[in-house]
Amino acid sequence: MEMADTILVTGGAGYIGSHTVRMLAAQQRKIVVLDNLVYGHREAIVDDSVELVVGSIGDKQLLRELFARHSFSAVIHFAAFAYVGESVTDPLKYYRNNTAEPLALLEVMQEFACKSFVFSSTCATYGVPEQMPITESMRQAPINPYGRSKLMLEWILADCDHAWGLRSVCLRYFNASGCSSDGLIGEDHNPETHLIPRVLMALTGEAGPVEIFGTDYPTPDGTCIRDYIHVVDLADAHAKALDYLSTGGASQRVNLGTGVGVSVKEIIAAIEKVTGQTVPVVLGNRRAGDPAALVADPSLAHQILGWKADHCDITETVRSAWMWMSGSKHGRYSA
Ligand code: UFG
Repeated sequence: MEMADTILVTGGAGYIGSHTVRMLAAQQRKIVVLDNLVYGHREAIVDDSVELVVGSIGDKQLLRELFARHSFSAVIHFAAFAYVGESVTDPLKYYRNNTAEPLALLEVMQEFACKSFVFSSTCATYGVPEQMPITESMRQAPINPYGRSKLMLEWILADCDHAWGLRSVCLRYFNASGCSSDGLIGEDHNPETHLIPRVLMALTGEAGPVEIFGTDYPTPDGTCIRDYIHVVDLADAHAKALDYLSTGGASQRVNLGTGVGVSVKEIIAAIEKVTGQTVPVVLGNRRAGDPAALVADPSLAHQILGWKADHCDITETVRSAWMWMSGSKHGRYSA
């Protein structure tokens, strides 16, 4: 039996998970990553001190072995599928993986009296917000199965708190972007559907022209507005959420964003500025399920966790993504 300060990180080989694991390891915290490597990358775990266990969060026998061996003080749960479009065509895949499988994890946590949980939630739980910026008390009415699969787990966590004292922090991410400051780890989805990497891939020649999904939105330039939050800032919020729970903090849910809205056209302009290249663009129709604007009010995260985004300049965030994508330092895992 080890000291009771080890943290279990599910999905720690994924994009946001791996940046968080790296930050926690740098803070000398002991980490065990559980990842099935379906979308995660073994190479994204760069610290020798981190143990990677390849397996499923739904495998109770494996979970019991891990909990018996490590006596985890907290769990950070990233493992999930996150393709909104796929969630519409294959909802059961999302409800199984994002909502049902974590039940096994929670059951084993209850068995072992592990009562601290940090959860990767999403701004997609709000659906089409009534007002901007979005505060945590606004109505959650997701418009796709992905958002619903995450919202249901938020509800389950609240019920577990009521029933057996599970304290959780639900972190509702806005649009994650960028890479680690040294370019050693970064975003590597396959397939890649997210705007910033997709635009950069049009420049590296890995993909054709970028289609702008809709130019007739009720926004200043007609394209969708999002809040692009740097992945290193997201990682920092997880470290702060752990500290909050370890000092006895009650269950909370907070938005993680910059509070700054950036349109699709502004992202493309920032990428052209950073790379000095012209992005090949096709003007397309709206993508189903895209709200016109999603911008966080991040003040509650500051109040409760002492967190705020440090990287609010979209040019710098795009530069960070380009450093990774262009492979000028280390390149992507699959490149
Ligand atoms: N977009 C394009 N062309 C593209 C890709 C995206 O115009 O090729 C536009 C989208 O329409 C959207 C914006 O760029 O307006 C950002 O799109 P992303 O696909 O990068 O991200 P989303 O805003 O769709 O992110 C959503 C939720 C997140 C969730 C994520 C899951 O807002 O909470 O999907 O991957 F986590």
